[in-house]
Amino acid sequence: MNVVWHTHAITKQTRAERLGQTPCVLWFTGLSGAGKSTIAGKVEQRLFEAGALSYLLDGDNVRHGLCGDLGFSDADREENIRRVGEVGRLMVDAGLIVLTAFISPFRSDREGVRALLEGGEFLEVFVDAPLDVCEGRDPKGLYRKARAGEIPHFTGIDSDYQAPESPEIHLDTARHTADECADRVVAHLRERAYLR
Ligand code: ADX
Repeated sequence: MNVVWHTHAITKQTRAERLGQTPCVLWFTGLSGAGKSTIAGKVEQRLFEAGALSYLLDGDNVRHGLCGDLGFSDADREENIRRVGEVGRLMVDAGLIVLTAFISPFRSDREGVRALLEGGEFLEVFVDAPLDVCEGRDPKGLYRKARAGEIPHFTGIDSDYQAPESPEIHLDTARHTADECADRVVAHLRERAYLR
């Protein structure tokens, strides 16, 4: 297509060295109400306090702009995750620790993002809570509406959620608080030297 990749002198490695961190994507996935945004927000706060440079891409926010043209059909969710994956890759190239909070219900879409990144750059974080717990929390009142037939294709009700098979981090939010879960994620980053 007559488009040739241009390699620049300032690279991901030089930017990462200056920032003193190993760039990566923490890909939070789970049902609506499982705690993805809450925990990702708490992780980001801890990273900020530790002097790291990060960016949180949140489904509810991204769907107002970058993905404002997309709905909740399987094809639109796939495109949503593809775009976020590409943005995540650019941000990793910029040297950042990227956090994403999307239901991202389909395994193949998440694996597609993993394949975009280099080894060790994609950390899948399964924010795990049973449907009845998420439905009990119902922070946005959406499960109630979905049960009343007002929201078609609602994840967990009449649209599929495919749980990760071997996530890098598995958080059980029915048993642990959001603060405990956030601490675990940060500990994982420290143990594996993403944070210095
Ligand atoms: S994803 O499936 O494409 O990854 P995303 O995380 O961007 O979803 O958006 C999910 C958020 O959109 C939910 O937290 C909820 O607030 C809202 N939402 C609106 N309609 C639906 C629906 N049909 N299924 C799931 N979430 C929905």
